[in-house]
Amino acid sequence: MADLQAPRGTRDFYPEDLRLRSWLFDHFRAVARGFGFEEVDAPVVEHAELFTRKAGEEIVEQLYHFTMHDRHLALRPEMTPSIARMVLARAGGLRLPLRWFTVTQNWRYERMTRGRKREHYQWNMDLWGEPGVAAEAELIAAIFALLRRIGLGDGQVRVQLNNRALLEETLRAGVLATRPDAFAPLCVIIDKLSKIGADAVTQLLADPAGAVGLSPAEARDVVALLGVTSLDDAAAAAPADSRAIADLRRLFELLDAYGVADYVDFDASVVRGLAYYTGVVFEAYDAGKKLRAVCGGGRYDRLLETLGGPSMPAVGFGFGDVVIAELLADQGLLPALARGIDDVVAALGEAQRPAAIRVASRLRAAGRAVELAIGDARPKRIFADADKSGAARVWLVGPEEAARGVVKIRELATGAEREEPLDLSPP
Ligand code: HAM
Repeated sequence: MADLQAPRGTRDFYPEDLRLRSWLFDHFRAVARGFGFEEVDAPVVEHAELFTRKAGEEIVEQLYHFTMHDRHLALRPEMTPSIARMVLARAGGLRLPLRWFTVTQNWRYERMTRGRKREHYQWNMDLWGEPGVAAEAELIAAIFALLRRIGLGDGQVRVQLNNRALLEETLRAGVLATRPDAFAPLCVIIDKLSKIGADAVTQLLADPAGAVGLSPAEARDVVALLGVTSLDDAAAAAPADSRAIADLRRLFELLDAYGVADYVDFDASVVRGLAYYTGVVFEAYDAGKKLRAVCGGGRYDRLLETLGGPSMPAVGFGFGDVVIAELLADQGLLPALARGIDDVVAALGEAQRPAAIRVASRLRAAGRAVELAIGDARPKRIFADADKSGAARVWLVGPEEAARGVVKIRELATGAEREEPLDLSPP
């Protein structure tokens, strides 16, 4: 017998699930368009090589991949490499800054926990060609615009941000002077802090056989830096002319102008688990931090170069559909979404069906969503079903109405009834 369960971690979307998904996606798209971003798309299957970086990232270990006709292919675990590939293909001819968004299905073979599935959808907004933090500010403002639209008013979700360049500046005189390539694996290890704790992170950073190879003292210094949660403390520990600190200060000024700075915290432990980030990085969490990250992103100014292209600054975020749905459910904010039927049209008796079809066609041509009752139901059942479907009115053509050339219309909210000629033009 075939296994009739969907593979673990994948998702069937029944109508009520898909209504919720479409509701969320509509908000994603409305916000992105409101910020002047254009939607793009790419294949869900790519050459595996596009995703296989060598920094020890979880996302690479979780790749769904297969070989077919000597091609090593993979289902995309995220959108950023595909976007970069598309930018690269037109790098000379694009008007910068480029503002692109996507709403896509992604695949990761995850260990499943609350908020993590093996198939998820992500809304991405990416801004290419702008080196300054005006880009980060615009993207973080878009995240809050979305949260507000779906009822998660100010403060229910907070953004935590940091600048990877802070760590990079600090380590430049040390291990990074001779081994700049150790920086990406270093961030990947630090990203595990909340999961495995400070001691385990220190050990991994100082593992002589590991990818980073800090001295034990350096490793301890790095881990100590991660506890800083105020920008002033971070500034005190950084060089006086730190560019990373200046950028962060400017970013907070801009976020203030958007009216969202109060919901954004500096947190030196946020570095993100993806290798390509180079500058400001951020994640959003529910205020109680009970759930996993609602979204995450950052600046990745060198990704295009690593794909063999020209240097082009870029910053973006990915916002999943799973955690946000959990959060809305926890807060009792999931919307009650009706099926979206405006009218139900029914014939009482087969002889009246052609007349009912003409009524339904007329309403549909006028742009309404019409369910034409099929089969042989009694009026009581028709009204009850119509009520459940969320329709506003029922159009009934019985033998008596047909004989008089009319259709009976009942408004379901009030029970009021009226009649109209069967051949009336659209209401
Ligand atoms: P990410 O942090 O790996 O970043 O994913 C972004 C968001 O996607 C997460 O915060 C979460 O909401 C959702 N997500 C990720 N994996 C899963 C999963 N297994 N199940 C449910 N939801 C999940 C990226 O993917 C970057 N490419 C984002 C980005 C765009 N950076 C720059 N531009």
